[in-house]
Amino acid sequence: MSSAQEINASLKSLIQEFEEILDQASSLQEVEEARVAFLGRKGRLAGIMSKLPGLDPHDRPQAGRTANQVKSELNRLLEDKKKVLETKSRSVQDTGFDPSLPGRIPDVGSLHPVTRVVQDICNIFVGLGFDIVTGPEVETDFYNFEALNLPPGHPARDMQDTLYITESLVLRTHTSPLQIRTMEKRSPPLAAIAPGKVYRRDSDLTHTPMFHQIEGFLVDTRVSMADLRGTLTAFAQRIFDPGVKIRFRPSFFPFTEPSAEVDISCVMCQGRGRVHDGTACRVCKETGWVEVLGCGMIDPEVFLQVGYDPEEYTGFAFGLGVERVAMLKYGINDLRMFFENDLKFLNQFIQAGHR
Ligand code: PHE
Repeated sequence: MSSAQEINASLKSLIQEFEEILDQASSLQEVEEARVAFLGRKGRLAGIMSKLPGLDPHDRPQAGRTANQVKSELNRLLEDKKKVLETKSRSVQDTGFDPSLPGRIPDVGSLHPVTRVVQDICNIFVGLGFDIVTGPEVETDFYNFEALNLPPGHPARDMQDTLYITESLVLRTHTSPLQIRTMEKRSPPLAAIAPGKVYRRDSDLTHTPMFHQIEGFLVDTRVSMADLRGTLTAFAQRIFDPGVKIRFRPSFFPFTEPSAEVDISCVMCQGRGRVHDGTACRVCKETGWVEVLGCGMIDPEVFLQVGYDPEEYTGFAFGLGVERVAMLKYGINDLRMFFENDLKFLNQFIQAGHR
C-alpha cells in the first residue's frame, strides 16, 4: 500500500515529465502518443489514481483533489502544445513561414579599439581627478601655435607638418590648443584631459594623416616635475600592467620647460629586448623601451598668454599618442589596421557589455 506522500510526489513529478516529453514532441502524432501514455485509460495518471482507494480514508479527499489538479494541468499543457503545432503547420502551409524556427541574430558592432583605449585612458584620469574637455579640430593659428610659444617663423613649427585651411586656420596638429582654451576659461587649480583627433601631412608605415592624442595638464601652486612623474607612473601602471616602468628622456617643446619624452618598459618583451624564443623584440627594436608621450612643465610664457601669474602658479602638461598605446595594449604591430576597417580585425574587439 502506498502512502499519501508517495502518491502526492508521483502526481507532482508527472507534470514535469509530461512537460519534458511535450517539449520534445514535434508532431501532433507524438502529442497524441504522450496523451495516451499519461492521460489514457491505462496511462500514468490512471495508474496512480487506482491506488487512491487503498489510502487511509482520512487522506483520500486531499489526494483526490491533487490528482484532479494534476489532471487539469496535464490537459492544459496538452492543449497548449497542440495549438503551437497547429499554428505552425497552418502557417507553414499557408505562407511558407515557420514561426517556430529560431530567429536570425543580428550582427552586433563593437567599439573601435582606438575608441576603447580613449575611454580607458579617460577613465583612469577621471579617477585621478581630471576633467574631460574637448575643442575644435579646425583651429586658429593662435591656439595651435602662437599662444603655445610658437610665434610665426619659429623653427619648431616645422616639427609638425601642418595642414592649412587658410593662412590663419589649420587642422590642429596636436591637442595642446586645449591647454590654452581651457586655461582661458578657468582659473587654477585645474586638472583636465583633452582627447581628440589631430592631423599632420605625413603618411607612411608608422604615420597616418589623422591620429588621436590625449592632452593632459594640471595647474596649481607648487606643482613639480615629481607630480608629473607620479601621475604618469600611476597612469602607465593602470593602462598596461602594475609592473610597467617609465623613464624620462630630456627633450624640447616650445610650450614646456623643462621638457621630456617618456618611454615605458616594452610590454611585449617586459623590457628584456628579446621575446620568448630569444629573437629580437620588434616592438622596442631590442631597446626594451617604447616612447609613448611628450611632456614637461608648462612654460611661463604660456601662462602669460592666458593671464596666469607664473610667479604664483606652476603646472605640467603631456600629450599622448592613442594609437601607440592601443598597439602596445593589444599587441597590434601595424598602424594601418586601425584605419582599414577590416571586420575580421574589428570583430576581435567585441566584448560582453563593452559595445
Ligand atoms: N603637443 C606635443 C606633440 O604633439 C606633445 C606635448 C604635449 C608635449 C604637452 C609637451 C606637453 O608632440
